[in-house]
Amino acid sequence: MSETPDTPCFCGETRMCEIVFPEDTNPHNTMFGGRALQLMDKAAGVAATRYCHHPVVTASSDRTNFTVPIPQGAIIEFVARVVYTGRTSIVVKVELFCEGALATHRTLATAGYFTMVAVDANLKPIPVIEPLVIESDEAQAEWDAAKRMRGRPK
Ligand SMILES: CC(C)(COP(=O)(O)OP(=O)(O)OC[C@H]1O[C@@H](n2cnc3c(N)ncnc32)[C@H](O)[C@@H]1OP(=O)(O)O)[C@@H](O)C(=O)NCCC(=O)NCCS
Repeated sequence: MSETPDTPCFCGETRMCEIVFPEDTNPHNTMFGGRALQLMDKAAGVAATRYCHHPVVTASSDRTNFTVPIPQGAIIEFVARVVYTGRTSIVVKVELFCEGALATHRTLATAGYFTMVAVDANLKPIPVIEPLVIESDEAQAEWDAAKRMRGRPK
């Protein structure tokens, strides 16, 4: 699909691809978890910014499960989707898929939730967020899960 210069910004699913280089790995030659989290946070930031068309910061990340190791050389894809909106906050679910360089199938390796907050020039929260339109039972289930998860630490 070709794009003209005035194509509207995309604000649905954000996808980001990488290849796992040696500097991304741990002593087992598999992807370092901290590096995966860094890239997941980045994908969440892009998805949230695209959604609210405003700068955001990360307020929190919720339980992230690393279910399979990601070998060096693998192609990885981050899929980030807004699943919940509050007054100034946006919860983004990020999934990390992994495939071998010559593979025909891919595996969900990691998934986590990131709460991003829209901020003004002084880094104070600002309510600029359109409420998310829920269009399916699956989206409603994601919303409910994110809502339960986003309780602030006391
Ligand atoms: C995130 C931050 C802006 C929130 O500021 P704050 O003064 O606590 O703001 P508020 O109490 O008004 O909360 C604003 C929103 O953030 C949410 N929030 C704040 N802390 C949160 C946390 N730890 N987890 C989840 N959500 C949180 C609130 O629920 C609220 O959501 P809502 O407006 O949708 O209801 C502030 O804590 C901050 O600047 N943190 C550092 C951010 C940062 O440097 N991130 C890493 C680099 S990007």
